[in-house]
Amino acid sequence: MSISRLEIQHLRNLSQVKIEPSAQVNILSGLNGSGKTSVLEALHLLGLGRSFRTQHIRHLIQHQQSHCLVAAEIDPLGQGRPQRLGVQRQLDGDSLYRYAGNNIDLSTLAELVPLQVINADTFELLEGSPQARRQYIDWGSFHAERSFIQLWRGFRRVLKQRNTLLKCGKIDYRLRAVWDREFVRYAEQLTDQRARYIELLKPAFEAILARLLSGVSVEIGFRPGWDRKRPLDQHLAESFERDLRQGFTSYGPQRADLRVKADGYNAAERLSRGQKKLVVSALKLAQGSLFHQLSQRACIYLIDDLPSELDSHHSQTFCEYLAGANNQCFITCVDRRSLPQSWGAAVDTAHFVVEDGSVRRAD
Ligand SMILES: Nc1ncnc2c1ncn2[C@@H]1O[C@H](COP(=O)(O)OP(=O)(O)OP(=O)(O)O)[C@@H](O)[C@H]1O
Ligand SMILES: [Mg+2]
Repeated sequence: MSISRLEIQHLRNLSQVKIEPSAQVNILSGLNGSGKTSVLEALHLLGLGRSFRTQHIRHLIQHQQSHCLVAAEIDPLGQGRPQRLGVQRQLDGDSLYRYAGNNIDLSTLAELVPLQVINADTFELLEGSPQARRQYIDWGSFHAERSFIQLWRGFRRVLKQRNTLLKCGKIDYRLRAVWDREFVRYAEQLTDQRARYIELLKPAFEAILARLLSGVSVEIGFRPGWDRKRPLDQHLAESFERDLRQGFTSYGPQRADLRVKADGYNAAERLSRGQKKLVVSALKLAQGSLFHQLSQRACIYLIDDLPSELDSHHSQTFCEYLAGANNQCFITCVDRRSLPQSWGAAVDTAHFVVEDGSVRRAD
């Protein structure tokens, strides 16, 4: 799976960009404000229909323009038959996603282009709220099991209903029993899939981290959102009065989390900035590695400012890992010399220089 013939129109300072990325390593270098992160943002728009920097489309669309467009050829199953994928977002809120001549929806888009981002926000995986870690677990579960998306949607619907009833204050006993039964049914299935996914992920994470960072022992563990040694309906019954007072449900998959420990301590408290970067990168790279193992498809990695926070040794080992993996990577840096000059004869690399919103191939 890789993106070829990328075209970007009217996105931030990129008026019109046309490049032919390599199927493996793509390096984008340039000065501050030249448009490097915007190219990654365009790729993110192509894969997920939205930016990773803003929720407001008006910030993404170039000033004075009414829409932005990103298009490319992709070959999702690697069958040698690339098809055209295009995403257009308009200032008036309209969006258009097209693949192989047909309109598609957002979940089809997410399935077609498995994207992973490593940037300053990725630290959220350690330092942020559990929501960031749930999203991480759910990305993997979504790609690992076909039924996950239905379970996730079903659970969200039931949780919303239950919380609405709790907020009303008065709940009919029979109505509550019906919603709780549904809640438990979805919660158990969803949590089984999340737990299975993390078990599969652990060895991949450990192997990758061992290559990126030595001397620190990091362990990940899944927290389902309630103590699974006791049935969830018991938790719901016991916490009902509290839930009613709070107006939301205390136990369940909506409270799930991923625990990350370094040498036995909370990794967010224990690790240095560079060590954290390597741990969160290993988490992201492990997802790609497992995704490849399960589906025979490769992920596309958007890595913003790879050298930042890293010394030259760790930056080098990070790049060596990327060179040997199956993914297509788009890596930005201010100074090309902060990344390896040579990636090995077998690695197809392309270097693009970004200058004031224009992108040209340099080697
Ligand atoms: N909606 C917009 N329309 C036009 N230009 C914009 C818009 N939004 C941002 N810009 C400009 O586009 C450029 C985007 O820069 P971008 O963040 O991609 O730079 P960068 O190369 O990643 O820089 P850095 O090295 O500092 O991270 C900036 O110069 C910014 O002022
Ligand atoms: Mg940037």
